[in-house]
Amino acid sequence: MDVLGIDIGGTGIKGAPVNIKTGQLTGERHRILTPKPATPEAVIATAADIVKHFDWKGPIGCGFPAVIKYSVVHTASNIDKSWIGVNADEKMKQATGQSAVFLNDADAAGRAEMQFGAGKGHEGLVIIVTLGTGIGTSLFINGVLVPNTELGHIELQGKDAELHAAERVRIKKELNWKKWGVLVNDYLCVLEALLWPDLIIIGGGASKKHDRFFPQFTVKAETVPAQLRNDAGIIGAALAAPV
Ligand code: BGC
Repeated sequence: MDVLGIDIGGTGIKGAPVNIKTGQLTGERHRILTPKPATPEAVIATAADIVKHFDWKGPIGCGFPAVIKYSVVHTASNIDKSWIGVNADEKMKQATGQSAVFLNDADAAGRAEMQFGAGKGHEGLVIIVTLGTGIGTSLFINGVLVPNTELGHIELQGKDAELHAAERVRIKKELNWKKWGVLVNDYLCVLEALLWPDLIIIGGGASKKHDRFFPQFTVKAETVPAQLRNDAGIIGAALAAPV
């Protein structure tokens, strides 16, 4: 069965139909830039354009860069503050006529990696870290998700960790891969000191260039790149939809 997975990020909104049994995309993914300001109306209209692009009739799963509890958005680090308190599932249903479920974007990527990617079959404590506009985290204990961990916001050298080591920092400050690798390692070491994971999976666009910055890592836990790369968010969002 296919579900439309949509990954709503601080920079781009991308979607594709996904076979939820195999985790494969069954159509070419479609990407649109995230509108600025990223208000609920503007973002939902863009996500609805993705639905229209695929002429989609059926369930939809949406990964979203915020804490989502029982359909309601609770935080807004890299999106417009007016999202707080919005029932995202309802808004999407109103805009598209299809049933939709929102979940945190890193949790979506984590679900996909645990089911089909680098985390498959891993017991113990696994943390998926997505490096993008912000830092997202997804935590699994013996294969069970602990949702909405916001470990990208732990304090690192006196500031919010995502302002220190997200991929946006590499791009904005024009850091080379080695320098950025050191910053990511600073972050992973703090995470490790607090949680002692058995496995760390690094996701986000940069994960495909892992050979350029992983050599800087001194963290003790086994650390591997995401296998589903930038599609993890789309695939995991699809897995969360009600079918
Ligand atoms: C948000 C998280 C999100 C992460 C990645 C952070 O700023 O607080 O909810 O998962 O960015 O998009």
